[in-house]
Amino acid sequence: MDEATSPQPAESISLENPVRFYLDHAATSWPKPPGSLEACIAYQNKIGSASGRGVYQSAERSNELVRAARTSIAKLIGAEDPLSVGLGASGTHALNAAILGLLQSPEYRGSHVVATVTEHNSVLRPLELARKSFGCNWEAVGCDENGVLNLSQLESMIRNDTRLVIINHASNVTGAIQSLDAIGRIVKKRKCTLMVDAAQTLGYVPIHVQDMGIDILAAPGHKGAGGMLGTGILYVSKNLASSLLPLWIGGTGLNSDSIEGPFDWLSAFESGNANLPGIASLRGGVDWVLSQPPSTRLNDWTQRLVEAVCSEPSLRLVGPATCTTESRVPVVSLVSSKMSCHEMALLLDSAFGIEARSGFHCAALVHESIGTKTTGGTLRLSLGHTSCEDDIVAAEMGIQMLGSMTL
Ligand SMILES: Cc1ncc(COP(=O)(O)O)c(C=O)c1O
Repeated sequence: MDEATSPQPAESISLENPVRFYLDHAATSWPKPPGSLEACIAYQNKIGSASGRGVYQSAERSNELVRAARTSIAKLIGAEDPLSVGLGASGTHALNAAILGLLQSPEYRGSHVVATVTEHNSVLRPLELARKSFGCNWEAVGCDENGVLNLSQLESMIRNDTRLVIINHASNVTGAIQSLDAIGRIVKKRKCTLMVDAAQTLGYVPIHVQDMGIDILAAPGHKGAGGMLGTGILYVSKNLASSLLPLWIGGTGLNSDSIEGPFDWLSAFESGNANLPGIASLRGGVDWVLSQPPSTRLNDWTQRLVEAVCSEPSLRLVGPATCTTESRVPVVSLVSSKMSCHEMALLLDSAFGIEARSGFHCAALVHESIGTKTTGGTLRLSLGHTSCEDDIVAAEMGIQMLGSMTL
């Protein structure tokens, strides 16, 4: 190889691992659960080919991998058919495809939509875009100071022209879990479509789309489902399959001699070469989640952090005080009367190596309701499948230190 074509050394990134306690699983889980990284490496080392394209043997193994991932996810969410599960790039990617795909369709264009103040910006911003582009009016149901939705307001907000209700199953700020059983009954009584953002619950809280009356479910694959960053999931029930219009289209591996549609939602959503290393990891992560016996470990650890916050007079807990599979995901937010959220995050990192997130957490509306707008948001500690006792002990010490600060 001559000098002009020889590869340049990559800019070096330090891979030295300082002491760190990772408490940001609500952003993305790390380390991944057993089976995830192994499946990713095995795919890359032993298969490596694209799916849905070639007829050679390794391409067929890639197809099998995609089918297996859909089947595992369908099992995790109680979907009727693995082909109701689309594999995408992130929660945001799936939510955009679902919200904008539905609201630009003739059946939904110009209709009224009910969402909630607890939504992430990956719901709120597409809704605003749909308001401007497709004339959809939307309103947000409020929540109490703990982040729990007002269900009687939800019921009264549904109008005759409401076609879609979007619910954030659990807030990435308060950790509060909403009762999908109760919400599903209200939404179905009014014959609306129920879309759920399961970003913080998938893999942590039982979900059964058929029993809960969920028509569309979107989630990242890289949080509780245990896949790598760059993975996302979109479930669309059979009765809505023709209502979701494509937002993008390209190579699908099907009818390749034609530029004409119509394109079904799944081919459109997955057009382009799929992230097979990510899909392999997602399948590994989901299979691990499915293999786990019921456990209260994460609830118990979350409860310990909640109690550590509550025992410090200068700290205020945000979200529910009890931690069960019905009430709170393993996310604990707090504010201090002495320090800003960013100061607390910097202090935790520099003193103990605790990695926690500070700020508004990409949720524009909820802070008004929970009293954290003027505090610049919250400090958020979040646990995941691979958290361990050392993380909890470090976090308890960190919280105690924050409580003792007199700045
Ligand atoms: C509640 C909620 N919805 C949606 C998303 C977006 O997911 P992603 O980061 O995969 O785009 C997140 C991410 O943190 C989230 O917490």
